[in-house]
Amino acid sequence: MSLASRVVKQAVREWRHGCRSLHSKTIAPAQRRPVLAALVSGGVVLGVYAGYTSLSPVQLDTPASRKKKTKQSPNAPKYISYEEVQKHNTPESCWVIIDGQVYDATSVLRWHPAGPNVILKHSGQDATKAFVPAHPPNILSHLPPEAHLGPVDPETMPKERVELTPDEIRVAEARKALPPPSAALNLYDIEQFAEKVMTATAWAYYRSTADDENTYWENSDAYRRFWFRPRVLRKISHISTATTMVGLPTSLPIYISPSALARLGHPDGEMNMVRAAGEAGITQGISHHASCSTEEIMSVKSSQQDLMYQMYMPKDRNAAKDLIKKAERAGYKALILTVDTAVTGKRELDMRLKQSSMNVAVATGKATVDGLGIAHSIGFAKDPDVCWDDIPWIRSVTRLPLIIKGIQSVEDAELALDKYKVDAIVLSNHGGRQLDYAPAPLTVLHELHERRPDLLRKHEVYIDGGIRRGTDVLKALCLGARAVGLGRPFLYANGVWGEEGCRRVIQILREEIETGMRLLGVTSVDQLTPDLIRYVDRDPGPRRRS
Ligand code: LAC
Repeated sequence: MSLASRVVKQAVREWRHGCRSLHSKTIAPAQRRPVLAALVSGGVVLGVYAGYTSLSPVQLDTPASRKKKTKQSPNAPKYISYEEVQKHNTPESCWVIIDGQVYDATSVLRWHPAGPNVILKHSGQDATKAFVPAHPPNILSHLPPEAHLGPVDPETMPKERVELTPDEIRVAEARKALPPPSAALNLYDIEQFAEKVMTATAWAYYRSTADDENTYWENSDAYRRFWFRPRVLRKISHISTATTMVGLPTSLPIYISPSALARLGHPDGEMNMVRAAGEAGITQGISHHASCSTEEIMSVKSSQQDLMYQMYMPKDRNAAKDLIKKAERAGYKALILTVDTAVTGKRELDMRLKQSSMNVAVATGKATVDGLGIAHSIGFAKDPDVCWDDIPWIRSVTRLPLIIKGIQSVEDAELALDKYKVDAIVLSNHGGRQLDYAPAPLTVLHELHERRPDLLRKHEVYIDGGIRRGTDVLKALCLGARAVGLGRPFLYANGVWGEEGCRRVIQILREEIETGMRLLGVTSVDQLTPDLIRYVDRDPGPRRRS
């Protein structure tokens, strides 16, 4: 194992241990200091490790004294010297070191979803830091065996100078002042902590929205134009928040929306969300671009827990079929096809961060990539020509319930449900990350309720985007939604506290939903009906917060 990977692994262990122990109920205040120290020191080194999009080259020096010849016993693995690796730094022969092993990535240049340059800029070098946070750990086992060339000779590796960037120092400082999850009273508090303690890369990718953010803000403002018509003097001490989604039981009418790259926020990535969802008895969509492998995700799932698999349509339909079959075999219970991302929206926060990293890279002569940001990198392989005709094709290759995510008009809701008879739809504009001025999903739900209430009675319609309060969930259900998805709040909470943060999101929503139901005078989710809500046609104005 290389020094770099040992340092990184130790950091991850310390950070995980620190994250878990610091907030555990059993830890005595006197014991917290060493745990906090582990958390912070681990977090600092982890910050280096998590520099996924940093284009600045890994700081290396190669003292001549370290280039001595390594003695090998006859049974020792056949080491490859770092000098040899460095020679393979062209598109014709592109080698990289990942976690102490040398790989010939030349063939990967042709198909990598982020394009060849993202690999070429690490050619002939140790790519571990860039690789690990963005890929499931077992992905290298899918390479042809001949691409794995063997271990790099650790004696020949340059000594790494760990230089913290200003952002990593900022994160470490902010983490010192981070309170436990119970300090967050609502999802806005969690978002504020996230902005402070997550890396700039993770924050920019998760928070990023399209163009001028009109749709992003409208997504939540739309909820403020609906007010309740509560009923009183009803017995409300016993209530049930349970429902089902495509037949899958859920203890709350909420689910974790599929969202990419949870490992940018925390080394356990999506696994934290799966554990929290399993404990709470809610469902979760696992993203096509999850940063944990299917094996990792399934290994932390409880036996009763249901997961759905979200996919974008790959250009190659054979690859699409393989993906669907793999999801079936893995045990996913429903398939979500996302249809609002034929091309990737213009995400300026994500792009700006990439641009500023690029400036560093240009200055150091290492810039070979475009400055479009992470979303564009991972969106490379989607088929822009995915169309309605693909729906019967998907039906022909799987019996999994099919949910179409990204419906933004009544007409498309009618097509999906009336004509193509999908099992459910999600009214969604991708969290305001795609087309600016796309309507808020709640507005589309309202229109559906006015024009086609029969569709809402006969079919399952879910909604996501801008939901931050239990009352938002209740409003969506009053208008006919079956369940509500939340993405960013889980990514943020995962980035701040890992699994405990994800649990806190669910706990906050559970309390707000239960209180809201009682104060509305309902005891089960099927009693949340349109007569309990009305549209108020006025600009909600700026949010007031004390
Ligand atoms: C995004 C894609 C991956 O919004 O869903 O970044």
